[in-house]
Amino acid sequence: MRRTELILTIAGFCLMTATASSIWSVQHATAQDSIYMPQHNTKGELILPKNHSWRDWPYVGSMVTPNALNGGEAPFPEHHVTYIDPVSWQHYKKTGKFREGTVIAKELTRVRAPDGANKDGSTDEVSGTGYFMGEYSGFEITIKSKKLYPKEPGNWAYYSFGHKPEPYNAVAKKQPTEACAACHQASAAEDMVFTQFYPVLRAAKPK
Ligand code: HEC
Repeated sequence: MRRTELILTIAGFCLMTATASSIWSVQHATAQDSIYMPQHNTKGELILPKNHSWRDWPYVGSMVTPNALNGGEAPFPEHHVTYIDPVSWQHYKKTGKFREGTVIAKELTRVRAPDGANKDGSTDEVSGTGYFMGEYSGFEITIKSKKLYPKEPGNWAYYSFGHKPEPYNAVAKKQPTEACAACHQASAAEDMVFTQFYPVLRAAKPK
């Protein structure tokens, strides 16, 4: 083998190895990203998921409750967007049940109301007059776990990382049962989750 051929062969081998290892690391990162494991600190507070990872999760539904339709002051005068973690989504499609370890995230987004908005807080955009999304303004999570929350109704625990613009709080304390779970228990359609507002889950549920 001549010297140049030898160099080319070695270079080719290096390139193949580098490509294979970068493909491996991409796949590895994707697999890890899609499996979210809730992390708690030593005080038992939930740590905010890294890199807004919930925004990559399957979306299940959204609603908007503007001030103008709520006597001028809605408790959540925003768009609410709900996501479910990918593993629990696959499980729900198969079984129609929220598995042990289900995580559901709800993120709030201000209604877009730049100068010149209408009296009712709506804006006139190219698709019509209505309530459009502005900036992020809050983040909440609920986790179902018999192991972690044996005493909570339905084994769901509720956390809020703040009702405010980003950055959200780095950690959240578990909310008292009366603060969150009670209303979910009383009014949500399925296992304390508001599936009546989540067309993606209703359509995916096995008949
Ligand atoms: C007065 C009733 C009520 C109370 C109290 C309440 N929620 Fe909810 N929650 C809702 C409704 C209704 C939805 C459906 C989506 C929406 O309208 O925003 C919801 C949805 C959610 C979701 C998405 C998953 C699901 O179950 O549908 C999370 C997460 C959540 N709430 C967290 C909380 C937290 C954290 C608290 C306490 C700080 C709380 N909620 C208190 C009514 C309530």
